[in-house]
Amino acid sequence: MTIYLDNAATTFPKPESVYRAMDEFARTQLANPGRAGHRMALASERMLDDTRHLLNQLFNGEGPERFIFTLNCTDALNMAIKGVLREGDHVVTSNLEHNSVSRPLQALAQTGYISLTRVPADAGGTVDPDAIGQAITSKTRLIVLTHASNVLGTVQPIREVGQIAREHDMLFLVDAAQTAGVIPIDIRGWGIDLLAFPGHKSLLGPTGTGGLYVGSRVQLRPWREGGTGGDSASPTQPRELPYYLEGGTPNVVGVAGLAAGIRYVLERGQAAIHEHEMRLIERLRQWLWERDGFEVFGHDDSRRRVATLSFRVEGLPASDVAAILDSCFDIAVRPGLHCAPYIHRALGTFPEGTVRVSVGPFNSYADIDALCQALSQLVGSKLTV
Ligand code: ALA
Repeated sequence: MTIYLDNAATTFPKPESVYRAMDEFARTQLANPGRAGHRMALASERMLDDTRHLLNQLFNGEGPERFIFTLNCTDALNMAIKGVLREGDHVVTSNLEHNSVSRPLQALAQTGYISLTRVPADAGGTVDPDAIGQAITSKTRLIVLTHASNVLGTVQPIREVGQIAREHDMLFLVDAAQTAGVIPIDIRGWGIDLLAFPGHKSLLGPTGTGGLYVGSRVQLRPWREGGTGGDSASPTQPRELPYYLEGGTPNVVGVAGLAAGIRYVLERGQAAIHEHEMRLIERLRQWLWERDGFEVFGHDDSRRRVATLSFRVEGLPASDVAAILDSCFDIAVRPGLHCAPYIHRALGTFPEGTVRVSVGPFNSYADIDALCQALSQLVGSKLTV
C-alpha cells in the first residue's frame, strides 16, 4: 500500500462517507439540477444548495448564493482575475503565488493590460503586510495573496492584508488552495472579497470540484455563459447569483462528494485535523534538523504553518529523491518547483526545486517513520534511480 504524502496536490484517501455519498448520488439522484421540475432534478438542485449553505457556514460568507462551483481552484482564480480587472489596473501580489495566480496576472501584464507588483516574502516564507501596503498605488484595484504557500506551508497574514485592502478601498482575492478545510477562514471578518478554493484538497472532496466566493463589493464579468436551467428567455446571462457565473451543467456527483467531505471536516473539526497533521510534519522536521545532509526550508513556527514541508538532500537532485522514494519504498511525495517558480528563485532552489512532503488527515506517525527510514537508507547507501 502506497504511503501517500502528497496531500498538498490532492488529499488521499477521502473519508469513506465521500465515496459513499458519490456512489449513492450517482445511482439515485443524478439528474440535471434545475433543468426540469421533476423530483430528481429538484433533489439535485437541493443538494447543490445545501452544499452552498455548508460553505457559507464554514467560511462565514455573506450568503450561500455567493458560492460559485468551479472545476478547481485554478478555474476559480481565473474567473476572479479575468472577471474583475480592467485595462490600466495595477495589482499587488507576492512571490509565494502558485502559477494559477502568477500566470494569468503575468499574461495580462505582458500585454500591457495591467501592471503588477510582486512583493517578496521574507526568508522564512511570510509576506509583510506593510510591504503590501507600500506597493499600493493610485491605480491599484486588486490585491491577490495565497493563504498558505504550497511550497513552504507558511500561512500568510490575511486578516492584516484584508484590513489594508479595505482602508484603500480595493478588492482582495485570497487563494485558499492550501488552507480551505484545515485553517479557519473568516470571509466577513477578514475583509475578503473573493475567495478561491479547491474541493479536492483539505475539503476532502473529489477532483473536479472547487469554488469561488464573490462578495457584495465585486462586479465580475462572467467567465462562461450558457444555460442555467431558469430564465431561458433572457438573451444574456441572468444577473442572479450563482447562475450569473455558473453556465452549463455542474459537476453534481463531485459536489455530492464535496458536501460529504465538508461534513467530515465540520465533525472532526479544523483545529483537530490541523493539530494532527502538524504533529506528524513536525516529527519529520525535527528528524531532518537533527541529521546532516538535509536542508529544510521555511520558518519553524508550527502555529503559522500548514503540514507541508520542503527540503533537499545534499548531493541528490530532488527529482531523484522522489523517484527513489516512489520506486524503492512506495512513498509518494512531490519534487520540483511545485508550480511556484518565484519562491524557488528566492530560496535559491531554482530550477531543481525541493522535495515536498505534505500530510493529510489519514496519515499516521508510522508513515512519517517509514519516510525517515527510507531517507536514512537513501542517504546512507546512496541508492540511485
Ligand atoms: N497546486 C497543487 C500542488 O501544489 C497541485 O501540488
